[in-house]
Amino acid sequence: MNFLLDADIDPAPLAGKRVAILGYGNQGRAQSLNLNDSGIDVTVGLRGESASSTEAEAAGLKAALIEDAVAAADVVMMLAPDEIHGALYAEIEPSLKQGAALGFSHGLSVHFGFVRPRADLDVFLIAPKGPGTALRSLYQQGKGMIGLWAVGQDASGGAQGIALAYGRAIGCGRAGLIASSFAEEAEADLFNEQAVVWGGVPELLVAGFETLVAGGVSPEVAYLECVGELHLIAELIEARGIAGMKEVISNTAELGALLGGKRIIDAGVRERMAEVLAEVRAGRFADELRNEESSGYARLERERSEARKTLLEETRRRLGGAD
Ligand SMILES: NC(=O)c1ccc[n+]([C@@H]2O[C@H](COP(=O)([O-])OP(=O)(O)OC[C@H]3O[C@@H](n4cnc5c(N)ncnc54)[C@H](OP(=O)(O)O)[C@@H]3O)[C@@H](O)[C@H]2O)c1
Repeated sequence: MNFLLDADIDPAPLAGKRVAILGYGNQGRAQSLNLNDSGIDVTVGLRGESASSTEAEAAGLKAALIEDAVAAADVVMMLAPDEIHGALYAEIEPSLKQGAALGFSHGLSVHFGFVRPRADLDVFLIAPKGPGTALRSLYQQGKGMIGLWAVGQDASGGAQGIALAYGRAIGCGRAGLIASSFAEEAEADLFNEQAVVWGGVPELLVAGFETLVAGGVSPEVAYLECVGELHLIAELIEARGIAGMKEVISNTAELGALLGGKRIIDAGVRERMAEVLAEVRAGRFADELRNEESSGYARLERERSEARKTLLEETRRRLGGAD
């Protein structure tokens, strides 16, 4: 079965196990708190100088130095940024118990060889399909976030049980856990980030805004048309699917979408999408990510400082958008 819910998952493989969560950022915070609320013995592992220790303890969690948390753990979850997983794994490997389980929420660092786990370890993936903030708030509402699971290495014969019990404890089993693999999750996630939701969509909005402004439309109207309506369509697609969304918009919008959509997203776009997928699979993006980290994130820092200076961003602020 490729879609598991709480009732299909045995929580026992995690009972009595000690879990160390390395990192208390977006995912680390949410997963630690959800595990703790599910009755799992969890310790957040952090660097000596980390300010997050106080935050984790204030939230009612145990916090310890990374090596101490790892040495005591049966399950270690790598929730620091992907690009530092190689260095972090090298640091913790001597402290990892024989036969421990090592978990990830992204397939990247294992699939592209940043981490080569010791042969005695179970290696699993639980990748919630959304940000930690939503993973936590859904859990608190008694709901969950859909997630992917996979086993990368099954040294004990029990890796699948641990993976699923972990996914259940962070709330993913309330919405559904789907079987995948490290390769599939990593490649599909990187493809989407570059070509679709996080890369393609924002650039489409910018291109539309700039085309209207160049055509004499005021920036305010261009912004409201091209950017301001995005959440409306996202909510409709979430609630009704793409076909259902088209049923509730006006005939004018529906016909416009029919004529214009396929003209903009044409065969050339699909060809470039296929190129992106091939490059992701060849490990080119993984190399870029490693280089970016080695350079102290120079390109990302440059982009971040430029990103707020555009006409689109100025217009957003004029229309009352917060910084
Ligand atoms: N963000 C998401 O929405 C999302 C969704 C699904 C999966 N994931 C995956 O979840 C994992 C974690 O991502 P994230 O976005 O949650 O990461 P993040 O927020 O950037 O992680 C920050 C945490 O990592 C710690 N950290 C940073 N550098 C470290 C180092 N050199 N050694 C030890 N700890 C270090 C930080 O420590 P300090 O507190 O000391 O600064 C902080 O607690 C990744 O594999 C990611 O792909 C993320």
